[in-house]
Amino acid sequence: MSKPSFVLHGDIAYSKPDRSLTSQKDGYLVVVNGLIKGVYPSLPKEYAGLPLHDHAGRLIVPGLSDLHVHAPQYGFRGNGMDLKLLEWLNTYTFPEEAKYQDLSYADKAYQIFADDLRKTFTTRACIFATLHKKATLALAKKLSSTGLIAYLGLVEMDRNSPDYLRFPSAEKALEDTETYLKEIKDIPNIYPILTPRFTPSCTDELMEGLGEMKKKYHLPVQSHLDENPSEVAWVKELAPWSSSYADAYDKFGMLEDSIMAHCVYLNEEEKALLLSRGTYVAHCPDSNINLTSGIAPIKEYLEKGMHVGLGSDVAGGTHLNLFYQASLAIQMSKARVLYLGDKAPLNAEEAFYLATLGGGSFFGKVGSFLEGYEADILVLDDLKAYPSIKDLSILDRVERFLYFGEESALKEKIVAGNPIGLK
Ligand code: GUN
Ligand code: FE
Repeated sequence: MSKPSFVLHGDIAYSKPDRSLTSQKDGYLVVVNGLIKGVYPSLPKEYAGLPLHDHAGRLIVPGLSDLHVHAPQYGFRGNGMDLKLLEWLNTYTFPEEAKYQDLSYADKAYQIFADDLRKTFTTRACIFATLHKKATLALAKKLSSTGLIAYLGLVEMDRNSPDYLRFPSAEKALEDTETYLKEIKDIPNIYPILTPRFTPSCTDELMEGLGEMKKKYHLPVQSHLDENPSEVAWVKELAPWSSSYADAYDKFGMLEDSIMAHCVYLNEEEKALLLSRGTYVAHCPDSNINLTSGIAPIKEYLEKGMHVGLGSDVAGGTHLNLFYQASLAIQMSKARVLYLGDKAPLNAEEAFYLATLGGGSFFGKVGSFLEGYEADILVLDDLKAYPSIKDLSILDRVERFLYFGEESALKEKIVAGNPIGLK
């Protein structure tokens, strides 16, 4: 079946792999068969017959990818922000996630999450559910009907949480995961991702089983790494055979085709390991400040050539708006300059890159308007929503949208060439 072909006219901006921002005022973005053909200053004759959507004066940018979000935590975002990670998990998170055993609770809560996510700037996401298979499959169906594209993980945990939120054995966790993998296959646009919650939640036996499953079915992985000093110290006790927290994942083959959220406290060995494995770092600045976790050295990671994208990490983070997360990434990098000796903060171009191509590339050719990229597109009526007396450049408009752009300015959202309903 052929995918949509069309042209969008407006003020176009996108990142290139070198993280620089390219723009075309009054340009034409051509999409053929769901893929970007190119950005042109005037419409080439050969595409004159395609449907043209005129968005003159509006900003046209790539869709944003949320590399780390917990769907079952959406209901308590903004509450319980008084504790650090391990206490926060035990006090607020585990009791809430346990409620997803009840399908009718899960159904209502996940409907709110899916509806809200659909209306955000996010076109692709990597999502943690809970360990409940039925509720997670219900979420997969709801996400699928939004038209967004997502990886969705059944959350693996078989130690260090209360009985009410723990698989009784590694064997049962692996069995449910196998069933989950079979059943999610029939749900369009929602793909499975192995999701060991973090090392403290998973026995070596479970990790080993997941490592085998990863190889057998060629699955990606998502987890948490080096988020908080107490967590890092705990992993040292739990995995005395590992040379570092990252190594404790690597021993089970968990760093390849994988996203590790946070990475605030990577040591030099871990940085080199993640770089060599091509691991994606999901930078979650909102969560890192809310849970008083720390500030990841993202500028350094980018300069080293590591893959980095953004994660909202709701409910550690409180906002699904990834433009806002991008501005927080800049602000947090300035706190590193102030207090941790960094030479320079992230700039707006780099933050925009993180939200678009930085994270998008985990999904393949996603997050840019270069030829051959999947057509994930946002149309923003920024000048109407936020009029200015000044004659703003496209970079000025992108930059200020990072700081105060809201979903009310989102006029069109397109994923892999298909329009998403925003009502
Ligand atoms: N580490 C393990 N589980 C979680 C979680 O749910 N949120 C965050 N931020 N970190 C975690
Ligand atoms: Fe998280």
